Amino acid sequence: MPLDVVTGAFGYIGRYIARRLLAQGRRLKTLTGHPQRPNPFGDAVEVASFSFHRPGELERHLEGCDTLYNTYWIRFAHGGIDFERAVSNSRTLVRAARRAGVRKFVHISITNPSEDSPLPYFRGKAQVERCIGESGLSYSIIRPTVVFGAEDILINNIAWLLRRLPLFAIPGSGDYRLQPVFVEDLAAIAVEAGQQPHSETLDAVGPEIHCFEGLVRLLAKTVGSRALILHVPPQAALLAAKVVGLMVGDVILTADEVRGLMANLLVSAHPPRGRKPLTQWLAENADRVGASYSSEIARHYR
Ligand SMILES: NC(=O)c1ccc[n+]([C@@H]2O[C@H](COP(=O)([O-])OP(=O)(O)OC[C@H]3O[C@@H](n4cnc5c(N)ncnc54)[C@H](OP(=O)(O)O)[C@@H]3O)[C@@H](O)[C@H]2O)c1
Repeated sequence: MPLDVVTGAFGYIGRYIARRLLAQGRRLKTLTGHPQRPNPFGDAVEVASFSFHRPGELERHLEGCDTLYNTYWIRFAHGGIDFERAVSNSRTLVRAARRAGVRKFVHISITNPSEDSPLPYFRGKAQVERCIGESGLSYSIIRPTVVFGAEDILINNIAWLLRRLPLFAIPGSGDYRLQPVFVEDLAAIAVEAGQQPHSETLDAVGPEIHCFEGLVRLLAKTVGSRALILHVPPQAALLAAKVVGLMVGDVILTADEVRGLMANLLVSAHPPRGRKPLTQWLAENADRVGASYSSEIARHYR
């Protein structure tokens, strides 16, 4: 059975991709920044470290790999890793995949990336997409929006705040939109793309578009929150997020994330490929969404 490699199979989206590949009987290896962490897949998944600073070692990790599923990226600059570094690490991975003879490179990107974007997340994603496109590898670039599911951070933490606090601050008008996609749908799209011989770039978005205020009110209703929902200037919302962030030891929201949201970058102009509506998933998971806080810093920096 051919070997596939998933970067970040112990993470969020990578874990769902890994589960699907294992269910298909594929052999699997993961590359991770935390090779010492408990392996939720046991012996079924071989573990190696990213080795971005040792390209020869990284190439050896990829030898014999049929399809590489890449979820590596950072949410914000922190702890000495900024977007320039994430782009350069991604380029190192692409080159190593090419040299190792990987058949197909499946890359998880973001909707509406642009090399002209003032936002380093979206600009860096576009730079990595270009590198993949010019690499000579057969590729599928998959562009999701906000991803929802059990281990999600953004939607879960809005629900967590609504459960606990008397007030919730919406940055600006709240009329900017997002089109969340279910993590299982995204994993299915990625794994199916891995089987295609041709190169392609596609959006992976869900069937519902919510404005941000509508999403917050839907979450409030789902968790039975009586928090007062207010509109405040983005800077005030960021200040509030910073204060709560200090209390929970996390970065809850960044200025660039607010700009990305308000610029309507998390919606697609194409028909949705994801099937599960967020409203249905929330109804099925009302008791667990926001029940505990999900920390980005704890996941990646501790
Ligand atoms: N989650 C979403 O809502 C969403 C929405 C749109 C696009 N995406 C894209 O989907 C991909 C996967 O996202 P995810 O939420 O599943 O990510 P994740 O599990 O948190 O991380 C994916 C991989 O990136 C590595 N990583 C993350 N932050 C890092 C950091 N600060 N320093 C070093 N390595 C780091 C992780 O390392 P370890 O293996 O060491 O954990 C893991 O291998 C990313 O490309 C992301 O941009 C996600």
